[in-house]
Amino acid sequence: MIRGVIFDLDGVLVTTDELHFQGWKRLAEEECIPFDRAVNQRQRGIGRMESLDVLLEKSTRTYSQAEKLAMAERKNKYYCDLLQTLTPADTLPGAREMLAALRKRGIRTCIGSASKNAPVILQRVALTDSVDNVVDGRDVTRSKPDPECFLLCARRIQLTPAECLVVEDAEAGVEAALAAGMAVLGIGDAARLPRAPRVVRDLKAIDADELLKA
Ligand code: G6P
Ligand code: MG
Repeated sequence: MIRGVIFDLDGVLVTTDELHFQGWKRLAEEECIPFDRAVNQRQRGIGRMESLDVLLEKSTRTYSQAEKLAMAERKNKYYCDLLQTLTPADTLPGAREMLAALRKRGIRTCIGSASKNAPVILQRVALTDSVDNVVDGRDVTRSKPDPECFLLCARRIQLTPAECLVVEDAEAGVEAALAAGMAVLGIGDAARLPRAPRVVRDLKAIDADELLKA
């Protein structure tokens, strides 16, 4: 029986996946590295440095570790500037309603995100108080598809993995949930998430009772 739901943040609850795309695009243009939505798709769900490595696959030169750190910091600066424009209206369809419906049913909720910016984002879209707990990029050392993030979420909300369902928009996140022994619901385009047993367009397309039928 599902007693807790773990939500990825970027691209599941908030439109920040698009802002990540814009931040990487600006960096890629400055560095003259080819970049498009297909590359960005592979950056979904994984950590900042891992995302940079995906971008640099298309680069014609190699970068030192110090250069890579500086580039990641630069992209984060562009991204954080874009986060300043975020308002509660940037919550994805059905997200706020789903969190409220789950709370009403006594289901525990947790954010399971790779982002170090998660607290700022939750605050800007006014969702901080809508979830019971948050695990973010500052709490984990291994990027999804490693299950570390989701296993820590389960511990924080004091449930076993089998009692948790993960909601994810990234293939790396779906894999992490399966590796953690959790049920998983994919968000977005089903063709992009071949390993997710169930996929819906957004959280508006499913109600809380359906969601909990893992
Ligand atoms: C999320 C996003 C990724 C991003 C990661 C780190 O998982 O889906 O695209 O790379 O967070 O985000 P940060 O805000 O710490 O750079
Ligand atoms: Mg995501």
